[in-house]
Amino acid sequence: MIDYTEKIPNNVDLGRDRVLQRALEHWQPAYLNWWYDMGPNESHAYEVYLRTAMNVEPDGWAQFGYVRMPEYRWGIFLQPQDSNRQVNFGVHKGEPAWQEVPGEHRSTLRRLIVTQGDTEPASVEQQKMLGFSCPSMYDLRNIFQVNVEEGRHLWAMVYLLHRYFGRDGREEAEALLGRRSGDLDNPRILGAFNEPTPDWLAFFMFTFFTDRDGKFQLCSLAESGFDPLARTCRFMLTEEAHHMFVGETGIGRIIQRTCEVMKENKIDDPSDVRAMGVIDLQTLQRYLNFHCSVTLDLYGSEVSSNAANYYTSGVKGRFEETKINDDHLLTEAEYPVSEVFEGKIRTKTVPALTALNERLRDDYIREIESGVGRWNRVIEKAGIPFRLTLPHKGFHREIGNFAGFKISPDGRVLTEEEWNKRQYEWLPSKQDHAYVQSLMSGRVVELGKFANWIAPPRSGINNQPLNFEYVRFN
Ligand SMILES: [Fe+2]
Ligand SMILES: [Fe+2]
Repeated sequence: MIDYTEKIPNNVDLGRDRVLQRALEHWQPAYLNWWYDMGPNESHAYEVYLRTAMNVEPDGWAQFGYVRMPEYRWGIFLQPQDSNRQVNFGVHKGEPAWQEVPGEHRSTLRRLIVTQGDTEPASVEQQKMLGFSCPSMYDLRNIFQVNVEEGRHLWAMVYLLHRYFGRDGREEAEALLGRRSGDLDNPRILGAFNEPTPDWLAFFMFTFFTDRDGKFQLCSLAESGFDPLARTCRFMLTEEAHHMFVGETGIGRIIQRTCEVMKENKIDDPSDVRAMGVIDLQTLQRYLNFHCSVTLDLYGSEVSSNAANYYTSGVKGRFEETKINDDHLLTEAEYPVSEVFEGKIRTKTVPALTALNERLRDDYIREIESGVGRWNRVIEKAGIPFRLTLPHKGFHREIGNFAGFKISPDGRVLTEEEWNKRQYEWLPSKQDHAYVQSLMSGRVVELGKFANWIAPPRSGINNQPLNFEYVRFN
C-alpha cells in the first residue's frame, strides 16, 4: 500500500532515508511552483473527479474522488521488488539485477532518466491552454487526469535522480523544472515536446502518437538491468495506458461524428463537411501525418552505436525483451533498415545490435497501425469510401536516414520543387489550423453536452454517467 499520511506519498520507505526525504521535500515546493505556473491554466480551484493510485497492484490500484489539482497526492510508486530478478540481456545477462547504479553506466543512465523525465512536464506545458476549449466536461476531466499523471511521472524520474545520482541528480532534478516547452533559450530536450498543442485534435493525436512513444520507451527501460528504473517504469506504464485510451477514443469519436454528419447530409466534399462544423477526414489525415512523423523522429537514428551500447551494457532492452526468443546478445543477428540511395528508397541489413532504435520504431508502427485500423472500421461502418493511412516512415523526418530528403506519404523520393508544391496536401496548413481553431472558440461544460464536432464516448469514467459532474468549477 501507498502511505498517504506522509508529506510525499510513497511505497519506497522514504521515511527511513532522512537525507533523501529532506532533499525531495525541498524539491516539492519548487515542483508546486512549476505546477501553478505551467499546469492547466486557471484550474487551481477546480475540483476534478480524478483517480489516485492507492497501491501498485495491476488491478484495483485506483481510487476515484474529487481533488483540487494542486492538492493531488503526487508521490513515488514503484512496482514491488522481485529479489530473483536478473539482467536479461547484454553482456551482464544472468547476473542479479543491479540495485545501485554501476559506476561505468552512471552517466548513461542519468541521461536516459533525464531525457524521459523531461518529456513529462513538457506535455503538461504543451497542453496548458486546452481547458478553455474542451469539447465536454468528460474530456476536460480526462486531460486533467493526463496532466496530473504526467506530473507524477516527473516525480518518478526525480526520485531516481535524487536517490541514485547524488549531487548531479539533484541538479538535473532542478533543471527539469527550469526548461520550458517551446522556449527559445531553454527548450525541452526532444523536438516533439517543443511543438505546440494548439487544439483538441492535436491533443488527441499527441496522446495517441506521442504518448505511445512514451509507452515504448518506458517498456524498454522497464527491461533495464538497473532494477529501480525497471520497477518505476513498470508502474508508470499502468498510468500511461489511460493516456493512449484518451487519444484513440478521442480521434475515434471525432471520426464518428464526422461520418454521421456526412451520411445524414449526403456530403463528402471537405468544404461541405466543414460547413457543417465538423472536421473533414482529409484534415484528420494531415494531422495524423504530422503527429506520426514527428513522433517517429523520437526513436532516433536507424543505426546507432549509442543504442547498441545501451543494450550490450544491460541498461535499455528491447520492447518485451523477455518474451523474445533469441540469445538476447545480438552478436550475430541482422536487422533491415531503410535509406535513400540514388534517388530511391532501399532496404539493407545491418547488425541488429546497431538497429535497436529502428526495431523499437517498427514495434511502435505495428501498434499504431492497429489503432488506425480501428479508426477505419468506424468510417467503413458508416459506408464512406475513405481510409486513413499511416505515412511512409521516411515522410517528413528530421532525424536519421531520411533527414534532408523529401519523401511523399506513399514513399516516393521527391524533388524540393514537388515537395513545396504538394506539402499542404499532406501536412496541416495555416488554414487547416485556423479552421480547427475556429471550432475551439469556447468550452463546452454543460452536464452531458458535447461539442458539435465530436461524438460522446460509449461510457463515462469509473462507470459514471455521461452527464456526471466530472469537474466542479467553484
Ligand atoms: Fe508520462
Ligand atoms: Fe502519458
